[in-house]
Amino acid sequence: PTPGEEDLSKEIEELVLNLPTEKNWDGSYLYQYQGFWCPSRHIHGTISFQRRFQAQDTDIILTSFPKSGTTWLKALTFTIVNRFRYELKDSPLLTTSPHDLLPVNQIQHSTHNQTPTLEEFPTPRIFATHIPYASLPVSIVNSNCRIVYICRNPLDQFISNWHFLLELREQTKEPISLDEAFEMICNGIQAFGPIWDHVLGYWKASAEKPHKILFLKYEDLKVGINFYVKKLADFLGCPFSKEEESRNVIEEISKFCSFDNMKKLEVNKNGRLNDGIKTKVFFRKGLVGDHTNYLNSSMSERLDKILEEKLGGSGFTF
Ligand code: A3P
Repeated sequence: PTPGEEDLSKEIEELVLNLPTEKNWDGSYLYQYQGFWCPSRHIHGTISFQRRFQAQDTDIILTSFPKSGTTWLKALTFTIVNRFRYELKDSPLLTTSPHDLLPVNQIQHSTHNQTPTLEEFPTPRIFATHIPYASLPVSIVNSNCRIVYICRNPLDQFISNWHFLLELREQTKEPISLDEAFEMICNGIQAFGPIWDHVLGYWKASAEKPHKILFLKYEDLKVGINFYVKKLADFLGCPFSKEEESRNVIEEISKFCSFDNMKKLEVNKNGRLNDGIKTKVFFRKGLVGDHTNYLNSSMSERLDKILEEKLGGSGFTF
């Protein structure tokens, strides 16, 4: 690292020491930073990303609450934006996980405490982050870059996250029970939570700046993906031509990025990400309503009631 980078790294080190912490479900730590619970493996990168990232007007920033459809949104955006560069039969997604094609930004920034050479990314650069709207780097908010956000019903998100962390946890550590994890999310404690603050932050921002922030729901995409592929392309400034529409390009992209197609690719079945995580953990069931197989009605009613209180008056419902 350069001297400036060393200073920042030290400053972050000290800042982190004074943050409140909680233990996450997988035994790792969460830091309470700027009102959200930041996983320990993201904290340095998050702060460094906030301080150093310089957005360009052509950038596309994919934002999401974890386990809400990030993988899907990455595949869709990459395919739509690069459709003149790669035909579907030659798509890099056939051999590379969406997460390695578009890595989570705050992780890149944490690597060796050095500013990564993001300038080398092809235009438009596509980045992804789970950071809440209020904590995004200033240059993202102030530039003309576009933000796409995706959220998901918190009950299904919880079940998805529960399975995900079970897969990722160190095998030597005792997993916490579903009941304990549920108790924590009812108190807003999970990576990048509280979920209600996260969603409301992006919801309000997209209402204020609809041309800058596109707000999506996982469930809506499941019901009508072709409509949203078109909407994404329009929003990102690369609409489908009449000629493309007549060739069913929209439908083909939807099918290519579908859960069933992505899940069966060798890279997503038996591969590992650059950081070692098994790619198959990002493709579990891909269904709406799976929480009913795990949570009893009093649990789901409890969380629904909390959400009603927290979101009340905003006009937003899941
Ligand atoms: P389940 O665990 O309910 O199956 P994220 O990508 O934000 O980590 O979210 C992961 C969730 O999205 C998982 O949900 C996963 O199966 C689902 N998913 C991944 N790719 C998908 C796709 N192409 N279409 C629909 N859902 C997808």
